[in-house]
Amino acid sequence: MWPDRRLVDLFGVTHPIIQAPMAGSVDATMAVAVCEAGGLGSLPCATLNGDQMRAGIGIIQQQTTQPFNANFFCHDPAKPDAAQDAQWRARLDPYYKEFGLGDDTPVPTVDLPPFGEDACAIIEDLKPAVVSFHFGLPEQSLLDRVRAVGCKIVCSANTVREARWLEERGCHAIIAQGSEAGGHRGMFLSEDITEQAGTMALVPQVVDAVQVPVIAAGGIADGRGIAAAFALGASGVQIGTACLSTPESLVSDLHRDALSGAEDDQTVITNAWTGRPARGFRTQLVNDVGAITDAPPDFPTASGALRPLKNKAESEGSAAFSSLLAGQAAGLNRVAGAGALVSMLVSEAAEQFERLSRS
Ligand SMILES: Cc1cc2nc3c(=O)[nH]c(=O)nc-3n(C[C@H](O)[C@H](O)[C@H](O)COP(=O)(O)O)c2cc1C
Repeated sequence: MWPDRRLVDLFGVTHPIIQAPMAGSVDATMAVAVCEAGGLGSLPCATLNGDQMRAGIGIIQQQTTQPFNANFFCHDPAKPDAAQDAQWRARLDPYYKEFGLGDDTPVPTVDLPPFGEDACAIIEDLKPAVVSFHFGLPEQSLLDRVRAVGCKIVCSANTVREARWLEERGCHAIIAQGSEAGGHRGMFLSEDITEQAGTMALVPQVVDAVQVPVIAAGGIADGRGIAAAFALGASGVQIGTACLSTPESLVSDLHRDALSGAEDDQTVITNAWTGRPARGFRTQLVNDVGAITDAPPDFPTASGALRPLKNKAESEGSAAFSSLLAGQAAGLNRVAGAGALVSMLVSEAAEQFERLSRS
């Protein structure tokens, strides 16, 4: 049924539907369900230590024989800046006081190592069919090692320039992440989010610029979106927000509630949660601090001082300091098991292809 089979053949999947890796919101259980339904399940590894990575990949390999994706971040590690950390903590101080958190409340250090030697050794050992990266690629020697064990390499691009850069470095496929997308912008050559295109504008321009298959991401939640992505020249789709309402997702009840009542104008791109631009539901913190400002320290340090506040507020039923990551199409979410969602997406896409071929 798929009008373009390049991704199906590249990954060895039945359907060119990738469950987005969503760090902290998804584990091996969702990946297995998606793989068994014929899509490409993904294990987000960015927030996992080595043991957790091995365990997650081990579960997938025990429970399915289908190909799957392991996903990593390639950000520049945060430069220590005690003055900016102190300013950020001071900016949040009124909220600490409001929630009864004393000056002695410990601020956790949030350290997310980018893809490096340890993760690479695990990939060489366990050899997932696909390895995807966000925030650019690792250094060439690591990339060569991933390629040498036969993994297909994929990375997100937010602009045509980023897509060309990725193709030059040997990516087998490129995710064109439109500005509708939930979660962190994958940007790594561009800085200004106001210049970034939506999926409808980005996908065909990336398709025209590169030879490798393009995966459309951002705002795709049903068969209409999938058919549109293929009409724009994509060879597959990566779907994130729509997977967050499945029972397999790990999101909090507050996050689920926001998703279930979502409308098109409720998300915003902000660097207030982690220091890097990400799209999610607008909250008090974003309203007060501003969506994009110089206030938060570098990614991911900013989330450290927020954590005690987030925990306290959530215990009182408030998401004011939580990052409820989601994309602009959250209002299209349906509650269904992850495998059932893939089947639903496939049959809806088939209906759309049929409808379009008749008209
Ligand atoms: C909660 C959440 C977490 C995400 N975490 C990651 C991640 O760890 N790695 C990654 O490559 N992309 C991540 N993304 C971005 C997705 O890969 C994808 O680009 C996006 O979900 C597509 O847009 P959509 O949410 O409208 O479907 C995340 C997205 C969301 C919503």
